[in-house]
Amino acid sequence: MNFEEINLNTLPKHIAIIMDGNGRWAKQRGKIRVRGHEAGAKAVRKTVEAAAKLDIEHLTLYAFSTENWNRPKSEITTLMSLLVRSLRRELERMTKHNIRLSAIGSLGKLPANVQQELEEVVKKTALNTGTHLTLAISYGAREEIKQAIVQISQKVKNNIIPVENIDETIINEHLYTQHLPDVDLLIRTSGEVRISNFLLWQIAYAELYFTDELWPEFDEQSLHQAIISYQKRERRFGKTSEQLT
Ligand code: IPE
Ligand code: IPE
Ligand code: MG
Repeated sequence: MNFEEINLNTLPKHIAIIMDGNGRWAKQRGKIRVRGHEAGAKAVRKTVEAAAKLDIEHLTLYAFSTENWNRPKSEITTLMSLLVRSLRRELERMTKHNIRLSAIGSLGKLPANVQQELEEVVKKTALNTGTHLTLAISYGAREEIKQAIVQISQKVKNNIIPVENIDETIINEHLYTQHLPDVDLLIRTSGEVRISNFLLWQIAYAELYFTDELWPEFDEQSLHQAIISYQKRERRFGKTSEQLT
């Protein structure tokens, strides 16, 4: 157990995870990729419940990127139906654990049944006050920033926002994550050391944590490990170490 090593007073407020390695996990076991995604769904459940147990305020999971639309059609179809099944299956547990669900991304590009299921779970968990779980689906950070620029430009054109008023707060207010604080801890599994178009603006000062574990292997212990690593770091935000004390 590594739970005792966690300081409950300095938990990250917002944890974001790039859940990578489902395909490799399946391949290592001589299985088809779908099995990896199914195992990945179980890891999602474990991780969400572990975060809820710690009372982490915000957990954002990268489930499907704008670039993932370029995968074989059959894999996309399986991922979408797995998503619908998981949402249906998890609603009860989310309610039990007081978890509130949101979704960010180009949600309009998702198949109608996925959109419906999402809307339903979002609505049914809206009043829950525990961990706020955000699924990034059909999400791309560049797309998110682009749509913010378009919205702001339109407001400038219509004299709703004077150009000189554009600041970081206004930009934040036009991102999909307008209701979320900046990411404190970003985790990526599977040994890849890249961001893959995830939350580019919001991770400006996040602590990055990379682990070789494949996503289906990730569990409560793994989350604790990441948090312990986070808590050992000094977040200086540009200041000197001396200024912090
Ligand atoms: C992450 O696992 C899940 C999604 C991107 C949807 P991958 O499917 O990317 O697994 P690898 O990277 O091929 O092992
Ligand atoms: C990133 O994983 C997207 C998700 C985890 C949903 P990918 O497996 O798609 O990333 P790349 O293509 O290897 O960078
Ligand atoms: Mg991958």
